[in-house]
Parts: sequence; structure tokens; C-alpha cells
Amino acid sequence: MTVNIALLGFGTVASGVPFLLKENGEKITAATGTDIQISKVLVRDDAEKSTLLAQGHDYQFVTSIADILTDASIDIVVELMGRIEPAKTFITQALQAHKHVVTANKDLLAIHGAELLKVAADNGVALYYEAAVAGGIPILRTLANAYNADKITKILGVVNGTSNFMMTKMVDEGWTYDQALAEASRLGYAESDPTNDVDGIDAAYKMVLLSQFAFGMTIDFEKVRHEGIRKITPEDVKLAQKLGFVIKLVGEIVERESGIYAEVVPTFLPQHHQLAKVNGVMNAVFVESIGIGEAMFYGPGAGQKPTATSVVSDLIALAMSVAEHYPAPPFNTFVRETVYAQKEDLLDKYYFAIETEDKTGQLLRLAELFDAEQVSFEQVFQESIGENRASIAIISHRMDLNQFDSLVEQISALDGFKLRNTIKVI
Ligand SMILES: NC(=O)c1ccc[n+]([C@@H]2O[C@H](COP(=O)([O-])OP(=O)(O)OC[C@H]3O[C@@H](n4cnc5c(N)ncnc54)[C@H](OP(=O)(O)O)[C@@H]3O)[C@@H](O)[C@H]2O)c1
Repeated sequence: MTVNIALLGFGTVASGVPFLLKENGEKITAATGTDIQISKVLVRDDAEKSTLLAQGHDYQFVTSIADILTDASIDIVVELMGRIEPAKTFITQALQAHKHVVTANKDLLAIHGAELLKVAADNGVALYYEAAVAGGIPILRTLANAYNADKITKILGVVNGTSNFMMTKMVDEGWTYDQALAEASRLGYAESDPTNDVDGIDAAYKMVLLSQFAFGMTIDFEKVRHEGIRKITPEDVKLAQKLGFVIKLVGEIVERESGIYAEVVPTFLPQHHQLAKVNGVMNAVFVESIGIGEAMFYGPGAGQKPTATSVVSDLIALAMSVAEHYPAPPFNTFVRETVYAQKEDLLDKYYFAIETEDKTGQLLRLAELFDAEQVSFEQVFQESIGENRASIAIISHRMDLNQFDSLVEQISALDGFKLRNTIKVI
């Protein structure tokens, strides 16, 4: 028996799928009792079709999605075009045509995932997307299957390779943000518009998906507080090192008594923390739970073969259900009502980097603000930075998110003071 699939797009990830299907053909047949055959590939136009045929790819290339939707022999559609449209329309139409869908499109899933999953359920098919979080790390299936006996209390993740590569250079080499971005662009890690990577948006998409599998709750993307790495300076990095920390862009999801909370923010991680050692473009997801305790899943977050491997693992699971004629189970069965945590329930320490005039009484003015919020200093550093200016770095004791927001607002409005940066401290 053969299970026919169609690929939508034939770019970086999609062109890695045939390699894995071929290299692992025997293993796949043993697991599924069937062969997985690429029946059709949707490309943009005739010019791309001609180029791919000239390169020796002998698939049936089509330029209209209708050729795939109306082909009853195709059981699974693999969307690897990226972006929201036309991916969303094509996935919806494929599900409505009773075809299972595999995708790696985290942007689309983070924003429209609930809607697409409903279309899948209404049509008796499944939507799988292991590759959408941390490319080659099989984290979603692990959370859905291996963690079904456990209760997760916290997820920490370094899940954006581009920003982690840049932070690694900024920490290890003392580079500025601009130097690190230039190198990431030169190596092809950063896109021409790096906003999604450096501003924490891509990592925030992944927090939305992780929250569904780890906590059974779908956090609205707009509710994931996210801040990127643009404001981090060599001074922040040096001070972190002096205090035994490494700065990284870390995503966090926690469940407190009042509910769930997710954010992606620059973070001081203790040098001995497992996540502090995740360098370059590598990704890791650190899971805290009441059963297993602490566990970290580490690996490549992107790349053709790692990402295609996750895509093919979804294909194998779906091919098995097609071959054996049973309904494919939903990718994630853990679904609870989403309840958001109260800000009073979210306690963390923070680093505040402030610049002001180098004169007496300035620290006192800051101390008065912190005192009024009933937050005390854990450590304070002050140094002259020339031209009668001083740099003040404060590491606070724990405060809740209301106190943090209030202090940020008050320091920003304080005459003669510039709040240069704030960083969470773990
Ligand atoms: N690359 C990774 O390491 C990685 C990791 C994790 C997840 N992902 C996700 O995987 C997906 C694919 O990424 P990728 O890196 O493979 O992207 P890519 O190299 O840009 O490939 C996408 C391909 O789809 C084609 N395409 C776009 N719109 C199309 C349309 N309407 N009809 C036909 N073809 C169309 C593109 O053609 P044009 O070039 O003409 O636009 C391109 O050839 C994305 O959702 C991405 O977020 C990628």
C-alpha cells in the first residue's frame, strides 16, 4: 500500500523531505506498513516548475492548489510555504477536503491555530506541526505523550536561533548588537528584516504553541509580553558576567495559582543554569514538572534536515492512521479553559540600567521610588561614565509585575534620569 502526500512549496524544508523519506524508507514501511509517496508538489509558477525539472526533480509539479484538493488519492498535505496567506486558505481547504495536514508554520499556528484545529476536527482529520517549535527538537510530541503522566509547572526556552547566535557573540566576544546582527546576516541566520527574531516575536509564537501542549491552555499571542535584544549593551553583558550571569533571550511560561502567564524577555541566567550553556543557533526547552523534576531538551532549532525530520515524523504518524484506517488522534488532547495569571502572582527579580547626572542625591531619588513600591535593592553599582554622567545598575529583590510596571513608568518619567534597560533575573 502507498500513502500519497502533496507538498505545498519546495523551499528549504520541503526539499529535505524526499531525502528523509528515501533514507528511512525501510524504517518508515516497518512502522506504518506503507510507503509514503510524494504525489504532487505545488510550486509558484511554470518558471519554478521548469527550473526544478531541469535540476532533476521528477515530481508532478502543479501551480494550482485545486489540482491537489480535487485529487482523492492524496491523503496528506504538507504546507511548507510559510507566512499567513495563502497558507491559511490552502490548509483550510485541504482540511475541508478531508486531507490531513502537516505544517511547520508557527506564525500561522500561533495566530490562527485554534480556528484551523476546529476545521480539522469538524472534518474528521488532523493537523500536526511538530516542526513549528524548535525545528529539530521533538518537543511537542514529547510534551503531549511522555509528559501525559506529569504536571508541568514551568517552561523556559531559548527557542530563537538567530537571537541566541547574536547573544552568544555579544557575551563571548563582547560584540555590540549591531556587530552581532551584521554577522548573523552575513551567515544567513538573520533575514533582511530581522524584527521577528530580535524583538522576541518568533519566540513568542512558540510560547503560544508550547503553552497548549504543556499546560492545555491557548494563550492569546497578544497577551505574551515580548521584548527583544536590541537594547542590550556591552555594559549590560559585562555587569552580568561580573555577577555570575549570562544574558539570553528567554521565553517563559508559568502556571500560578491564579492562572497562566507567558513572556519572552532578555534574562540574566545564572552561569550554572543549563540554559546558559545553550549557545550559537542551538535551541533548548527546559521543563519543570512535579514528576520528572527538571529536564532539558536541546538541539537544532532550524535547518533543512532537522526541521524536515520533524515534518516526516508527523507524516509517519498520520500515514499509520491512513494505512490502518483509524481516525488520526488530535496532535494535542490536553485542552483546558485558558485562565490568565494575576500580575500580583508573578514575582521576579529585575536588573535596571539607568543613566543620570553624576551628582549627589541621585541614588536617593531612585531609592525613594523603590521604597514607595515596597521593593528593596539586592545590589547596586554606580560608576562615572564621563561628561558628568553616571551609570547606575540596580538588581532588585523580587517584585510582582504591577510593581515592576509601575517602577518602569516612574523611572522613565523621572526628570534627569534615563532608564536604559531592564532585564529579568533568574
Ligand atoms: N528553515 C527552517 O529551518 C525552518 C525551521 C522551522 C520552521 N520553518 C518553517 O517552515 C516553513 C518553510 O520554511 P522554509 O525555510 O522552507 O521557507 P523557504 O525556503 O522560503 O520555502 C518556502 C517555499 O514556498 C514557496 N512558496 C511561497 N508561497 C507559495 C505559493 N503561494 N505557491 C507555491 N509556492 C510558494 C516559496 O517560493 P518563493 O521563493 O518564490 O517565495 C519557497 O520556495 C515556514 O513556515 C517556516 O517558518 C522553517
